[in-house]
Amino acid sequence: MFRTLITPLIILFSYALLNDEIFNKFSFLITASGYLAIVYLTVVLIIPLINFQNNIFNTKNMGVSAFYLSFLHLLLYIYDNNFEFGFLFEDLVYRNYITSGYIAFILFLPMYFTSFSFFKNKFSNWRKIHKIIYLIYIITLIHIYFVIKADYYYLFIFIMLFSITVLVKLFTIKKKYE
Ligand code: HEM
Repeated sequence: MFRTLITPLIILFSYALLNDEIFNKFSFLITASGYLAIVYLTVVLIIPLINFQNNIFNTKNMGVSAFYLSFLHLLLYIYDNNFEFGFLFEDLVYRNYITSGYIAFILFLPMYFTSFSFFKNKFSNWRKIHKIIYLIYIITLIHIYFVIKADYYYLFIFIMLFSITVLVKLFTIKKKYE
């Protein structure tokens, strides 16, 4: 977990704090933690397809780290808004890009908890629960779409990676049952 999560975060925070060209550090860190989270989710989807796992690129570590990064993303957003809960609630209700963010985050919870052996033993269908990652991914793409006003380049890359992953998965399943 240290190498998967803490090291990238130390690099990210040092870069943000030491770089004088980044004027709005919070906005930068919110955006960067959000992108790191979706990159980790993408790796979680791709790892099983290429059959490559080691201590760092391990689906459990990467999935749990994606959750922590989203949580950090949420905490930074709350801190950036001075913990003004009235305003945060208004944001949640009236702003599409915030509502979609919360939905993606809440959907993370069942996947996060069933990543640990204690809950895995209690929920024998945890593999089915983890399929929720596809929904989390789609809602995150919608969240990003609502946030960005122009330059859809990165969004396009994530949509492509997701579509390819889903197609390869469907193709593999189809072959298995032929
Ligand atoms: C927990 C609820 C969430 C809230 C309240 C939230 C809030 C925000 C806000 C306010 C921004 C704009 C930052 C800025 O421009 O200064 C943002 C951007 C972003 N969020 Fe979230 N978010 C949430 C969940 C998520 C999740 C779960 C992910 C990914 C797994 C995510 C990924 C992103 C990304 C990639 C961006 C950057 C988009 C861009 O500007 O190009 N967010 N989010």
